[in-house]
This record gives sequence, C-alpha cells and structure tokens, in this order.
Amino acid sequence: MTARGRFISLEGGEGVGKSTQVRALAEALRARGHDVIETREPGGSEGAEAIRALLLSGSEERWGAEAEALLFAAARTDHVDKVIRPAVEAGRWVLSDRFIDSSLAYQGGAGALGLEAVRAINAFGIGPWFPDRTLVLIHPEGAERARARDGEDSDRIGGRPAAYHEAVEAAFRTIAADEPERVRLIDASGAVEVVTRRLLDALADLP
Ligand code: TYD
Repeated sequence: MTARGRFISLEGGEGVGKSTQVRALAEALRARGHDVIETREPGGSEGAEAIRALLLSGSEERWGAEAEALLFAAARTDHVDKVIRPAVEAGRWVLSDRFIDSSLAYQGGAGALGLEAVRAINAFGIGPWFPDRTLVLIHPEGAERARARDGEDSDRIGGRPAAYHEAVEAAFRTIAADEPERVRLIDASGAVEVVTRRLLDALADLP
C-alpha cells in the first residue's frame, strides 16, 4: 500500500512573495526526496481554471458576495476531486498556492460573509480535505509591493481598497489563532532562502 502524501497550502495577502516561496519550497522538498506537485487557486484543474477567469476578470459588480464565495468553493471542489485527492492518495506532496483560507480571509473576513458561512460552504465541497499544514506569509510591506508590481493592472480582487486588504491580513491572523495546529504565521521579510528555511522549519513537526 502506498503511504499517503501530504497536503500543504501557502497563503497570504498581496505582495508577500508567495509565488516565489511556493517554487522554492517545492524544490527544497524535492531535494529531500518527496514527489511534489505545485498547484494554485483559484484554478489548479481544468474546470477550476475556467472558473478562475470568471472570478478575476470583469467589473466589481459582476458577482455579489455570495455568488463569488460559491464560485471559489466550486472551483476548489473540482481542484480537490481532480488533482489534490488523487495526488495525496498516490503518496505525493501537494503544495497549493492558496486554498480554503484565502476564501475565509477574503470573502469571509474582509468581505461581508463572515468566517462561519464561508467555512460551511467549503466544508460541503471539500469534505475532509483540509491541508495538513497551512503556512501564511506575513510581510509588512506586502501592500506597497503589490501596488508597485500591479499598478493599474490588478485583478478584480487584488484591486480592492487598502482597507479590504488590511482586513484580509487581520483575518489570516484570526484563523491562525483559531487553528494553531494546522495554520502557522510565517515572517516573509528577509532573503528568499531565509524565508524558505522558516517554511521548512514550520513543516518539521508534520506527522
Ligand atoms: P492571483 O493572481 O492568483 O494572485 P496572488 O498572486 O495574489 O495569489 O489572484 C488570486 C486573487 O484571488 C487574489 O487577490 C486572492 C483572491 N482569492 C480570493 O479572494 N478567494 C479565494 O478563495 C482565493 C483562492 C483567491
């Protein structure tokens, strides 16, 4: 029987260096002999990538708060069914750039819906497939870096006002305090290698 793999998500607000760290952490885990796949949300499967385009383009008014949260949850359900569950069951390590905690923080905490409603619709979709560990990158200059990077080109959600993004970070902190076993806050300031080392350290006690 193949040993079960692991499911790890990386989270954080805009501009915290998450994509760079997903790549670096995947390489570091491969160097330790794990079979790692990198994936992302919204997206990660064919159906979920189609939903991603619906969510991130168009005007702010395109979706109401509930429809937006349900679309993220629908995309995630397909991502779990088609990609995450089969890989973990085959013994692979899955590293996802964002997962359920983005919905909790953005739609639940910063948006109007609250954490409980968003947790409930996602639990319906993904069942027991919560990550084994979730690493939330916190960077003091994240918002400024995202503005410098994206300018006027930010997507439908990235372009929301500063207060929304401040609420996202506050919600990530709340989630980490609520679920300290699964969710760890990671200081994302400093050199890339230093941050990757912090991420690896935060996986060291994974059973
Ligand atoms: P993306 O281009 O992947 O941005 P990033 O590099 O910041 O990860 O865009 C994803 C956007 O969607 C980002 O602003 C976060 C947002 N998002 C949600 O609001 N809820 C979710 O459940 C997910 C997965 C992402």
